[in-house]
Amino acid sequence: MKLRAFHFATLLLTFLLLGGCSSVPISPPQTPSVFTPQGTHASSILQLTWVMLDLGSAIFVLVLGLLAAALLRGRRATSNTSPDSSGGDVGRNWAIWGGIALPLVVISIVFGYSIYTLAVINNSSEQPAVKIQVVGRQWWWQVQYPDQNLITANEIHIPVRVPVQIQVESADVIHSLWVPELNGKMDAIPPHINYLTLEADQPGEYRGECAEFCGLQHAHMGLMVVAESSDDFNTWLKAQQQAAAAPTNAPAQAGLQVFLTAGCAFCHIVRGVDDSNINRDGATMGPDLTHLESRLTIAGASLTQDRGNLAGWIIDPQHVKPGSLMPAQPLNAQELQNLIAYLETLK
Ligand code: CUA
Repeated sequence: MKLRAFHFATLLLTFLLLGGCSSVPISPPQTPSVFTPQGTHASSILQLTWVMLDLGSAIFVLVLGLLAAALLRGRRATSNTSPDSSGGDVGRNWAIWGGIALPLVVISIVFGYSIYTLAVINNSSEQPAVKIQVVGRQWWWQVQYPDQNLITANEIHIPVRVPVQIQVESADVIHSLWVPELNGKMDAIPPHINYLTLEADQPGEYRGECAEFCGLQHAHMGLMVVAESSDDFNTWLKAQQQAAAAPTNAPAQAGLQVFLTAGCAFCHIVRGVDDSNINRDGATMGPDLTHLESRLTIAGASLTQDRGNLAGWIIDPQHVKPGSLMPAQPLNAQELQNLIAYLETLK
């Protein structure tokens, strides 16, 4: 009876713990899994995982089998009481084959396969088709396309089935860029530059995370990778290169004034806006907002991009991401409405 209650409690606890595996309520729904690779690099890593798991399982079963055999033999031996004279030789053989030869073979296989996988996932070409610089910041990702001279945040667009070279850097502490469905992790260690190749087999949206504890909001430092056909990718590049158009309707025009006077422009750039009389010391502290509305998420992929989330984030960012550099904005309702109307023109 007690045992049954214990089993039930364990089962219940397991379900509760597994419940933690679902995405946190404020996150976008995509929950990336290393078991559903969407690119050659992630597939290679998964293959290595299976090889190691299979070998480990086989050895585990073998050891348990030997243990059971030894226990049974020990029981028979004690009932026989006759001492085993050949025990020394048998023991030595087991030590040589089981303790030296077998581990040597197994470790050599695993080591060799690991080196092979490392070579496959680091096949960064000398002349990659697309180069992207990703800079980790507490707690968001700055994304630059140096050849196309454009800058964005928390969202990387890549052409499908093309290896893209990501230059991973950090502006403050150690972060780690991880897009589980596309490749392994790559640390961003200031002031070092690391490289990561991303390649997606299918068009789609792949969620990435920061995989190195980097402070209070480490868990809310995500980004999206959007893989698309080369046509769509080029269209996106062209659109992102444009400066923001001047707002045409009255609320958005009033919103632009809020943007310039309430302090937003101190940390956020909107290309095309005349902010020459604003102190730009903090210009890179916050994400470039020139095409904010084109992104899937805001706040380091903690919130999906929509009107309500944007308003909540502007009014009280410390509620969503306590410790974030973004201060709360003491705007009245009308100012907030206008500001949102302006931000919604940044497509
Ligand atoms: Cu950045 Cu964890």
